[in-house]
Amino acid sequence: MELIEGLKNRRSVRKFTDEEVTREQIEEIVDIARFSPSWKNSQSVRYMLIIDKALKDKIAEEGVMGFEWNTTIMKGAPALILVLTVDKRAGYERDGSASTSKGEHWQSFDAGIAAETFCLAAYGKGLGTVILGVYDEEKVREIVGVPESQKISALIPIGMPAEEPEVPKRKEVADLLIVK
Ligand SMILES: Cc1cc2nc3c(=O)[nH]c(=O)nc-3n(C[C@H](O)[C@H](O)[C@H](O)COP(=O)(O)O)c2cc1C
Repeated sequence: MELIEGLKNRRSVRKFTDEEVTREQIEEIVDIARFSPSWKNSQSVRYMLIIDKALKDKIAEEGVMGFEWNTTIMKGAPALILVLTVDKRAGYERDGSASTSKGEHWQSFDAGIAAETFCLAAYGKGLGTVILGVYDEEKVREIVGVPESQKISALIPIGMPAEEPEVPKRKEVADLLIVK
């Protein structure tokens, strides 16, 4: 797939078929996402694949702060990815001191780059994804057993798309680009 075509045509998919997603498919996607840039090449992002339906549905029901919109998306997806980031790597020196005035900012920055690369790679392989930001990090941590030394930076339901969403309205270049 042409890169620019992929960048423009990827959409957030919130409805999926029942077809299962395999570990091998996710390995192929992570094999692409691992080429994402990161702070000093610190590569602090991890991807947790949840294919156990009971566990996925427990996160969907108990881990989204009552936001039923996200419960429905997650329950309808055959698999869920947790984007995890190891603390004190991105934006920090080896002695644990912050490298910049922006503290933990770069950890989330790297997670965002990696999450979108993951979603684009999935799209290139015919799979649909949506990045979810509305969830209760501590509740999901408790349900899944994520260590305290890692943030849960995003959730990404993934599966074969059962919809072709329209492009949500985008701002024009003139609204986005400031030239001085
Ligand atoms: C950080 C982030 C958090 C998001 N959280 C949610 C969410 O909780 N639920 C949801 O349905 N979509 C969520 N989205 C998807 C956005 O709504 C979507 O990307 C946006 O509407 C643009 O649509 P597109 O991805 O199809 O271009 C999130 C996207 C991002 C980047």
